[in-house]
Amino acid sequence: MRRTLVIGNWKMNGSKEANANLVSAIVAEAGSVTDTDMALCPSFVYLSDIAKAVEGTNVSVGSQDVSVHLEGAYTGEVSASMLLDCSCKYAIVGHSERRQYHGESNLLVAQKALTAYKSGLTAVICLGETLSERESGQVEAIIGEQLQAVQSVMGADAIAKSVIAYEPVWAIGTGLTATPEQAQEVHQFIRSRLSVNAEKVSILYGGSVKSANAAELFAQKDIDGALVGGASLNAKEFIGIAAAG
Ligand code: 13P
Repeated sequence: MRRTLVIGNWKMNGSKEANANLVSAIVAEAGSVTDTDMALCPSFVYLSDIAKAVEGTNVSVGSQDVSVHLEGAYTGEVSASMLLDCSCKYAIVGHSERRQYHGESNLLVAQKALTAYKSGLTAVICLGETLSERESGQVEAIIGEQLQAVQSVMGADAIAKSVIAYEPVWAIGTGLTATPEQAQEVHQFIRSRLSVNAEKVSILYGGSVKSANAAELFAQKDIDGALVGGASLNAKEFIGIAAAG
């Protein structure tokens, strides 16, 4: 049985003050959520603050990215060991915004996932197609290619210990959510491609998830939770989504 997992990706939002308010409102309600694991992914610079604020609660912390390098002269990069130092449990890799705006390739994403895994972080590996790829009937080809890159670099055992997030690019921040059936179809495809412990791997959906649509998404057989952007910046919404799990 896979436990529902809801991860808030705060992206490049927040401030010391805003984050303190948000996390305290989340923590205040988190105890009432017993069937869902929760994590928050603030900007790197606030990780320690958020880790401290959730200490002793049922909420974990994760990063939005991780360097492929372990240490050294890589200006601006943040290593896996630094993230562990800041009490991170998860590291998101391959978010479509990293792929799109920072030129991250399938290979680099796969290498980052491997670095995270080897360091003891749980990689949250993002996959997703653009609208034009969907409209031209390439969903399985694109998702299959992204997944294959991770599989060949990481190996099936390591993927089985990671989390996968299906985030159709056209549904991110647009208010357009994949229908539960559209999402389920892709989640099922992803699971069918996993060769080790396929039934145990959590596959999250991301793209305009809110408390109003979470339950119908989570009701799908292969949707095990959500990677939430905008709605995770609102404590009531975030808890509402987690409570739907
Ligand atoms: P939204 O929930 O704002 O659509 O963002 C989804 C996302 O990109 C989470 O990583």
